[in-house]
Amino acid sequence: MSSKPIGIFDSGVGGTSIWKELKALLPFENTIYLADSKNAPYGNKSKEAILGLSIKNTELLIEKGCKIIVVACNTATTNAIKELREKYDVPFIGIEPAIKPAALKTQTKAIGILATKGTLTSELFHKTTDLYSNGIRVVEQEGEGIVPLIELGKIHSEEMHALLQLYIKPMIDANIDYLVLGCTHYPYLIPQLLNILPSNVNIIDSGEAVAKQTKTVLGQHNLLNSNAQKPKHLFYSNSETEILASLIGKDKDIHYLDF
Ligand code: DGL
Repeated sequence: MSSKPIGIFDSGVGGTSIWKELKALLPFENTIYLADSKNAPYGNKSKEAILGLSIKNTELLIEKGCKIIVVACNTATTNAIKELREKYDVPFIGIEPAIKPAALKTQTKAIGILATKGTLTSELFHKTTDLYSNGIRVVEQEGEGIVPLIELGKIHSEEMHALLQLYIKPMIDANIDYLVLGCTHYPYLIPQLLNILPSNVNIIDSGEAVAKQTKTVLGQHNLLNSNAQKPKHLFYSNSETEILASLIGKDKDIHYLDF
């Protein structure tokens, strides 16, 4: 049993979609969330740069006493988790686009994947896609520009709507029936995506699976917190904190920290 916090990091505010899943499944756990918004987006950076930023975030979370680290960013997971696991003793949970369930369930034999360039060009992503996409058309689309708009709080803007229309159209033309959201910022766009997509298209993200995996791994390491006191949730951002507050609630314990 451990009351130490779960550490979570993302290139910015998007990983809060994962934090929400963790909080729902693990209601007694304390958490510390790092939004590296100053360095967002990670998606266009080199593997080396993404690894360097992931190391910086990990070391801060370890310094703050975290018992496990959830890499709540597909781009950081697909580019850096192998190296992080080799370098640190703490257990890591990563997030990858949910290609497997989409590929197993598709009836039209076509699925769409919206993710960052960093994720779509990673070795890990190619390995998973090759493994599950046999006989299935996979329409990959870089979500260029989406993360910066979310980081600016422009989720419901005209610019966002235009980008989503542009990126989803080739998928609709390819007759997809599953859209995989391969970036933790994107679940915040689900209401808009549902308006654009035909009604037979299902949207999948990996948030719930990540929370379940976190619970399993905590259990395996005997690290679950069974202390049923009100948990503490701390949030740190190295940029403006208002956007973070707009996504998780203004009542939360949010701090600016230069990391
Ligand atoms: N939330 C990150 C992800 O899941 C966004 C990456 C970025 O900053 O470009 O990939």
